[in-house]
Amino acid sequence: MSTEADAGDLTVDAQGVLERFEHDVTAVASLEDAEELHAAYLGRKRGAVTALFQALRDLDGDAKRAAGAAANQVRQTITARISDVETGLKDSARRSREAAEAVDPTLPGLPDPLGGLHPITQTLLEIQNVFVSMGYAVVDGPEVETDWYNFGALNFPDDHPARDEQDTMMLAGDLLLRTHTSPVQIRHMEENEPPLAIIVPGRVFRRDTPDATHNPMFVQCEGLVVDTDITMADLKGTLDHFAKALFGPETSTRFRPGYFPFTEPSAEVDATCPACKGSGCRVCKGSGWVELLGCGMVHPALFDNVGWDSTKVQGFAFGMGVDRIAQVRYGLSDIRAYYENDLRFLRQFTT
Ligand code: PHE
Repeated sequence: MSTEADAGDLTVDAQGVLERFEHDVTAVASLEDAEELHAAYLGRKRGAVTALFQALRDLDGDAKRAAGAAANQVRQTITARISDVETGLKDSARRSREAAEAVDPTLPGLPDPLGGLHPITQTLLEIQNVFVSMGYAVVDGPEVETDWYNFGALNFPDDHPARDEQDTMMLAGDLLLRTHTSPVQIRHMEENEPPLAIIVPGRVFRRDTPDATHNPMFVQCEGLVVDTDITMADLKGTLDHFAKALFGPETSTRFRPGYFPFTEPSAEVDATCPACKGSGCRVCKGSGWVELLGCGMVHPALFDNVGWDSTKVQGFAFGMGVDRIAQVRYGLSDIRAYYENDLRFLRQFTT
Protein backbone atom coordinates (compact mmCIF):
# COMPACT_ATOMS: atom_id res chain seq x y z
CA MET A 1 0.00 0.00 0.00
CA SER A 2 1.27 3.45 -0.88
CA THR A 3 1.40 6.65 1.10
CA GLU A 4 1.71 10.38 0.43
CA ALA A 5 5.14 10.17 1.87
CA ASP A 6 6.02 7.54 -0.71
CA ALA A 7 4.88 9.82 -3.48
CA GLY A 8 6.92 12.66 -1.97
CA ASP A 9 9.94 10.35 -1.84
CA LEU A 10 9.55 9.49 -5.48
CA THR A 11 9.14 13.14 -6.43
CA VAL A 12 12.24 13.94 -4.45
CA ASP A 13 13.89 10.96 -6.07
CA ALA A 14 13.02 12.33 -9.53
CA GLN A 15 14.67 15.57 -8.48
CA GLY A 16 17.72 13.58 -7.35
CA VAL A 17 17.94 11.77 -10.70
CA LEU A 18 17.83 15.10 -12.48
CA GLU A 19 20.55 16.52 -10.24
CA ARG A 20 22.77 13.49 -10.83
CA PHE A 21 22.11 13.81 -14.54
CA GLU A 22 23.07 17.49 -14.52
CA HIS A 23 26.34 16.46 -12.92
CA ASP A 24 27.01 13.52 -15.24
CA VAL A 25 26.19 15.44 -18.39
CA THR A 26 29.04 17.86 -17.83
CA ALA A 27 31.52 14.97 -18.27
CA VAL A 28 30.21 14.02 -21.73
CA ALA A 29 32.99 14.55 -24.29
CA SER A 30 32.04 12.28 -27.19
CA LEU A 31 29.06 10.70 -28.94
CA GLU A 32 29.91 7.43 -27.21
CA ASP A 33 29.72 9.21 -23.83
CA ALA A 34 26.32 10.61 -24.82
CA GLU A 35 25.09 7.14 -25.75
CA GLU A 36 26.36 5.82 -22.44
CA LEU A 37 24.51 8.60 -20.61
CA HIS A 38 21.35 7.82 -22.57
CA ALA A 39 21.54 4.17 -21.48
CA ALA A 40 22.21 5.12 -17.87
CA TYR A 41 19.11 7.35 -17.62
CA LEU A 42 16.66 6.37 -20.32
CA GLY A 43 17.72 2.77 -21.12
CA ARG A 44 14.99 0.15 -20.84
CA LYS A 45 16.94 -2.12 -18.54
CA ARG A 46 19.01 0.00 -16.27
CA GLY A 47 17.89 3.58 -16.91
CA ALA A 48 17.44 5.70 -13.76
CA VAL A 49 14.38 7.40 -15.28
CA THR A 50 12.94 4.05 -16.31
CA ALA A 51 13.30 3.00 -12.67
CA LEU A 52 11.22 6.02 -11.64
CA PHE A 53 8.40 4.83 -13.86
CA GLN A 54 8.69 1.30 -12.59
CA ALA A 55 8.34 2.60 -9.02
CA LEU A 56 4.99 4.17 -9.96
CA ARG A 57 3.50 0.69 -9.94
CA ASP A 58 3.61 0.77 -6.16
CA LEU A 59 1.64 4.04 -5.92
CA ASP A 60 -2.01 5.02 -6.21
CA GLY A 61 -4.16 8.05 -6.64
CA ASP A 62 -2.74 11.56 -6.20
CA ALA A 63 0.62 10.22 -5.14
CA LYS A 64 0.87 8.27 -8.39
CA ARG A 65 -0.21 11.29 -10.43
CA ALA A 66 2.26 13.61 -8.71
CA ALA A 67 5.13 11.16 -8.99
CA GLY A 68 4.17 10.35 -12.61
CA ALA A 69 4.13 14.01 -13.52
CA ALA A 70 7.52 14.50 -11.89
CA ALA A 71 8.96 11.46 -13.69
CA ASN A 72 7.58 12.68 -17.02
CA GLN A 73 9.03 16.09 -16.43
CA VAL A 74 12.45 14.61 -15.67
CA ARG A 75 12.28 12.30 -18.71
CA GLN A 76 11.43 15.18 -21.04
CA THR A 77 14.18 17.34 -19.64
CA ILE A 78 16.79 14.60 -19.83
CA THR A 79 15.73 13.50 -23.35
CA ALA A 80 15.95 17.06 -24.60
CA ARG A 81 19.29 17.68 -22.92
CA ILE A 82 20.87 14.51 -24.34
CA SER A 83 19.65 15.37 -27.80
CA ASP A 84 21.09 18.91 -27.43
CA VAL A 85 24.42 17.52 -26.31
CA GLU A 86 24.48 15.07 -29.24
CA THR A 87 23.67 17.79 -31.75
CA GLY A 88 26.43 19.95 -30.30
CA LEU A 89 28.95 17.11 -30.54
CA LYS A 90 27.96 16.28 -34.12
CA ASP A 91 28.24 19.95 -35.09
CA SER A 92 31.70 20.32 -33.70
CA ALA A 93 32.83 17.01 -35.27
CA ARG A 94 31.58 18.27 -38.65
CA ARG A 95 33.26 21.62 -38.15
CA SER A 96 36.62 20.07 -37.38
CA ARG A 97 36.30 17.64 -40.34
CA GLU A 98 35.49 20.55 -42.65
CA ALA A 99 38.42 22.51 -41.30
CA ALA A 100 40.74 19.56 -41.98
CA GLU A 101 39.43 19.10 -45.53
CA ALA A 102 39.27 22.76 -46.39
CA VAL A 103 41.15 24.01 -49.48
CA ASP A 104 43.38 26.98 -48.83
CA PRO A 105 43.09 29.10 -51.97
CA THR A 106 46.02 31.26 -50.84
CA LEU A 107 48.54 28.37 -51.09
CA PRO A 108 50.91 28.65 -54.07
CA GLY A 109 50.19 26.13 -56.90
CA LEU A 110 52.36 23.10 -57.62
CA PRO A 111 54.52 23.72 -60.69
CA ASP A 112 54.08 21.41 -63.71
CA PRO A 113 57.48 20.14 -64.87
CA LEU A 114 58.49 21.86 -68.12
CA GLY A 115 59.77 19.95 -71.12
CA GLY A 116 62.82 21.11 -73.03
CA LEU A 117 64.03 21.04 -76.61
CA HIS A 118 66.16 18.09 -77.69
CA PRO A 119 69.83 19.10 -78.18
CA ILE A 120 69.58 18.30 -81.91
CA THR A 121 66.49 20.48 -82.21
CA GLN A 122 68.26 23.30 -80.38
CA THR A 123 71.24 23.04 -82.72
CA LEU A 124 69.00 22.85 -85.78
CA LEU A 125 67.08 25.95 -84.69
CA GLU A 126 70.36 27.86 -84.30
CA ILE A 127 71.50 26.75 -87.75
CA GLN A 128 68.15 27.76 -89.23
CA ASN A 129 68.27 31.15 -87.52
CA VAL A 130 71.60 31.99 -89.13
CA PHE A 131 70.22 31.34 -92.61
CA VAL A 132 66.73 32.73 -92.00
CA SER A 133 68.35 36.00 -90.89
CA MET A 134 70.10 36.06 -94.33
CA GLY A 135 66.73 35.71 -96.06
CA TYR A 136 66.61 31.94 -96.68
CA ALA A 137 63.23 30.17 -96.64
CA VAL A 138 62.81 26.90 -94.71
CA VAL A 139 61.46 24.08 -96.91
CA ASP A 140 60.87 20.38 -96.34
CA GLY A 141 60.27 17.28 -98.43
CA PRO A 142 59.32 13.60 -98.18
CA GLU A 143 61.40 11.06 -96.26
CA VAL A 144 60.25 8.30 -98.63
CA GLU A 145 61.77 9.10 -102.02
CA THR A 146 62.07 7.63 -105.48
CA ASP A 147 65.37 6.49 -106.92
CA TRP A 148 65.12 9.41 -109.39
CA TYR A 149 64.91 12.21 -106.81
CA ASN A 150 67.41 10.69 -104.38
CA PHE A 151 69.98 9.74 -107.05
CA GLY A 152 69.13 10.08 -110.76
CA ALA A 153 68.12 13.74 -110.88
CA LEU A 154 71.14 14.54 -108.71
CA ASN A 155 73.48 13.24 -111.40
CA PHE A 156 74.48 10.01 -109.65
CA PRO A 157 75.72 7.58 -112.33
CA ASP A 158 73.89 4.23 -112.39
CA ASP A 159 76.88 2.42 -110.93
CA HIS A 160 77.54 4.90 -108.12
CA PRO A 161 78.32 2.98 -104.88
CA ALA A 162 75.80 5.03 -102.87
CA ARG A 163 73.01 3.37 -104.89
CA ASP A 164 74.06 0.02 -103.48
CA GLU A 165 71.55 -1.72 -101.24
CA GLN A 166 74.39 -1.98 -98.77
CA ASP A 167 74.10 1.76 -98.09
CA THR A 168 70.47 2.58 -98.81
CA MET A 169 67.32 1.36 -97.11
CA MET A 170 65.22 0.18 -100.05
CA LEU A 171 61.44 0.02 -99.97
CA ALA A 172 58.99 -1.57 -102.42
CA GLY A 173 59.35 -0.74 -106.13
CA ASP A 174 61.84 2.04 -106.75
CA LEU A 175 61.04 3.68 -103.41
CA LEU A 176 63.66 4.16 -100.71
CA LEU A 177 64.28 6.11 -97.52
CA ARG A 178 66.16 9.23 -98.62
CA THR A 179 69.86 9.03 -97.84
CA HIS A 180 70.26 12.83 -97.81
CA THR A 181 68.16 16.01 -97.99
CA SER A 182 69.49 16.85 -101.49
CA PRO A 183 66.41 15.44 -103.35
CA VAL A 184 64.52 18.47 -102.00
CA GLN A 185 66.82 20.64 -104.17
CA ILE A 186 65.22 19.02 -107.24
CA ARG A 187 61.67 19.04 -105.87
CA HIS A 188 61.92 22.72 -104.92
CA MET A 189 63.40 23.80 -108.26
CA GLU A 190 60.66 21.92 -110.13
CA GLU A 191 57.97 23.86 -108.26
CA ASN A 192 59.61 27.30 -108.27
CA GLU A 193 61.53 29.80 -110.39
CA PRO A 194 64.94 31.35 -109.76
CA PRO A 195 66.13 33.27 -107.81
CA LEU A 196 65.80 31.20 -104.65
CA ALA A 197 67.52 30.65 -101.33
CA ILE A 198 66.33 27.78 -99.16
CA ILE A 199 67.43 25.56 -96.32
CA VAL A 200 65.98 22.10 -95.87
CA PRO A 201 66.20 20.44 -92.46
CA GLY A 202 65.14 16.81 -92.25
CA ARG A 203 65.75 13.23 -91.27
CA VAL A 204 67.82 10.96 -93.48
CA PHE A 205 68.49 7.22 -93.39
CA ARG A 206 71.48 5.02 -94.14
CA ARG A 207 72.24 1.37 -93.58
CA ASP A 208 74.91 1.99 -90.97
CA THR A 209 75.62 -0.12 -87.94
CA PRO A 210 75.19 2.19 -84.94
CA ASP A 211 78.41 3.20 -83.23
CA ALA A 212 79.78 6.29 -81.47
CA THR A 213 79.67 8.37 -84.68
CA HIS A 214 77.04 6.61 -86.83
CA ASN A 215 73.31 6.13 -86.53
CA PRO A 216 71.01 4.69 -89.23
CA MET A 217 68.79 7.78 -88.88
CA PHE A 218 70.21 11.25 -88.46
CA VAL A 219 69.36 14.87 -89.23
CA GLN A 220 70.74 16.95 -92.09
CA CYS A 221 70.32 20.55 -93.09
CA GLU A 222 70.61 21.28 -96.80
CA GLY A 223 71.08 24.69 -98.40
CA LEU A 224 70.47 25.82 -101.98
CA VAL A 225 70.90 29.25 -103.58
CA VAL A 226 70.19 29.85 -107.27
CA ASP A 227 70.39 33.13 -109.17
CA THR A 228 71.96 34.52 -112.35
CA ASP A 229 75.22 35.78 -110.84
CA ILE A 230 76.24 33.33 -108.12
CA THR A 231 79.94 32.46 -107.77
CA MET A 232 82.08 30.32 -105.54
CA ALA A 233 82.98 33.51 -103.64
CA ASP A 234 79.33 33.75 -102.52
CA LEU A 235 79.51 30.17 -101.32
CA LYS A 236 82.72 30.77 -99.37
CA GLY A 237 81.53 34.05 -97.84
CA THR A 238 78.18 32.57 -96.83
CA LEU A 239 79.63 29.48 -95.19
CA ASP A 240 82.41 31.40 -93.44
CA HIS A 241 79.77 33.71 -91.99
CA PHE A 242 77.72 30.69 -90.97
CA ALA A 243 80.66 29.06 -89.13
CA LYS A 244 81.39 32.30 -87.25
CA ALA A 245 77.71 32.78 -86.34
CA LEU A 246 77.48 29.22 -85.04
CA PHE A 247 80.80 28.73 -83.26
CA GLY A 248 81.89 32.32 -82.52
CA PRO A 249 83.53 35.24 -84.38
CA GLU A 250 87.08 33.92 -83.82
CA THR A 251 86.27 30.84 -85.94
CA SER A 252 88.14 30.28 -89.24
CA THR A 253 87.14 27.99 -92.10
CA ARG A 254 89.09 26.05 -94.69
CA PHE A 255 87.84 24.59 -97.96
CA ARG A 256 89.24 21.27 -99.16
CA PRO A 257 88.51 19.82 -102.60
CA GLY A 258 85.75 17.24 -102.46
CA TYR A 259 83.46 15.24 -104.71
CA PHE A 260 79.69 15.05 -104.99
CA PRO A 261 77.90 14.08 -108.24
CA PHE A 262 75.53 17.04 -107.88
CA THR A 263 78.08 19.84 -107.37
CA GLU A 264 81.03 20.94 -109.49
CA PRO A 265 83.42 22.01 -108.14
CA SER A 266 82.79 20.42 -104.75
CA ALA A 267 84.40 21.12 -101.40
CA GLU A 268 84.50 19.91 -97.82
CA VAL A 269 84.49 22.71 -95.28
CA ASP A 270 86.22 22.51 -91.90
CA ALA A 271 85.97 25.02 -89.05
CA THR A 272 88.47 25.62 -86.27
CA CYS A 273 87.44 23.43 -83.35
CA PRO A 274 85.07 25.43 -81.10
CA ALA A 275 86.18 23.41 -78.06
CA CYS A 276 89.93 24.22 -78.20
CA LYS A 277 89.88 27.16 -80.66
CA GLY A 278 92.22 25.23 -82.93
CA SER A 279 94.97 24.10 -80.56
CA GLY A 280 93.92 20.44 -80.65
CA CYS A 281 91.76 18.50 -78.20
CA ARG A 282 89.63 15.40 -77.73
CA VAL A 283 86.70 16.83 -79.75
CA CYS A 284 88.83 17.48 -82.89
CA LYS A 285 91.06 14.45 -82.25
CA GLY A 286 94.03 16.76 -81.86
CA SER A 287 93.81 18.31 -85.34
CA GLY A 288 92.36 21.70 -84.34
CA TRP A 289 89.72 21.38 -87.12
CA VAL A 290 86.23 19.88 -87.23
CA GLU A 291 84.35 18.87 -90.38
CA LEU A 292 81.42 21.22 -90.87
CA LEU A 293 79.72 20.30 -94.16
CA GLY A 294 79.95 19.34 -97.83
CA CYS A 295 79.22 21.89 -100.55
CA GLY A 296 79.82 23.03 -104.09
CA MET A 297 78.47 24.87 -107.12
CA VAL A 298 75.26 23.29 -108.44
CA HIS A 299 76.09 20.91 -111.30
CA PRO A 300 74.54 22.10 -114.61
CA ALA A 301 72.98 18.66 -115.08
CA LEU A 302 70.59 19.43 -112.19
CA PHE A 303 69.31 22.58 -113.94
CA ASP A 304 68.86 20.53 -117.12
CA ASN A 305 66.89 17.94 -115.12
CA VAL A 306 64.41 20.55 -113.87
CA GLY A 307 64.19 22.33 -117.23
CA TRP A 308 66.16 25.47 -116.32
CA ASP A 309 68.65 27.05 -118.72
CA SER A 310 72.01 26.01 -117.26
CA THR A 311 73.78 28.71 -119.32
CA LYS A 312 71.82 31.42 -117.51
CA VAL A 313 71.57 30.32 -113.85
CA GLN A 314 74.17 29.30 -111.32
CA GLY A 315 73.92 28.29 -107.73
CA PHE A 316 75.60 26.78 -104.75
CA ALA A 317 74.48 24.05 -102.39
CA PHE A 318 75.64 22.69 -99.09
CA GLY A 319 74.62 19.92 -96.71
CA MET A 320 75.55 19.33 -93.09
CA GLY A 321 74.98 16.68 -90.46
CA VAL A 322 73.18 18.33 -87.56
CA ASP A 323 73.93 15.44 -85.18
CA ARG A 324 77.65 15.85 -85.93
CA ILE A 325 77.59 19.60 -85.39
CA ALA A 326 75.68 19.16 -82.10
CA GLN A 327 78.23 16.50 -81.11
CA VAL A 328 81.09 18.96 -81.64
CA ARG A 329 79.22 21.75 -79.97
CA TYR A 330 78.48 19.77 -76.81
CA GLY A 331 81.72 17.74 -76.82
CA LEU A 332 79.66 14.53 -76.88
CA SER A 333 81.66 11.33 -77.38
CA ASP A 334 78.82 9.00 -78.46
CA ILE A 335 75.94 10.20 -80.68
CA ARG A 336 73.78 7.21 -79.78
CA ALA A 337 72.90 9.06 -76.56
CA TYR A 338 70.77 11.45 -78.67
CA TYR A 339 68.28 8.72 -79.48
CA GLU A 340 68.09 6.77 -76.24
CA ASN A 341 65.64 9.19 -74.57
CA ASP A 342 67.44 8.94 -71.24
CA LEU A 343 66.15 11.93 -69.28
CA ARG A 344 69.38 12.12 -67.25
CA PHE A 345 71.19 12.84 -70.52
CA LEU A 346 68.55 15.11 -72.04
CA ARG A 347 68.06 17.26 -68.91
CA GLN A 348 71.61 18.56 -69.29
CA PHE A 349 70.44 20.51 -72.32
CA THR A 350 67.36 22.19 -70.85
CA THR A 351 67.85 25.91 -70.44
N1 PHE B 1 74.12 15.46 -99.77
C1 PHE B 1 75.50 15.46 -99.34
C2 PHE B 1 75.68 14.37 -98.26
O1 PHE B 1 74.73 13.82 -97.81
C3 PHE B 1 75.90 16.79 -98.76
C4 PHE B 1 75.89 17.88 -99.78
C5 PHE B 1 74.76 18.63 -99.98
C6 PHE B 1 77.05 18.15 -100.52
C7 PHE B 1 74.77 19.67 -100.92
C8 PHE B 1 77.05 19.16 -101.46
C9 PHE B 1 75.92 19.91 -101.63
O2 PHE B 1 76.79 14.05 -97.91
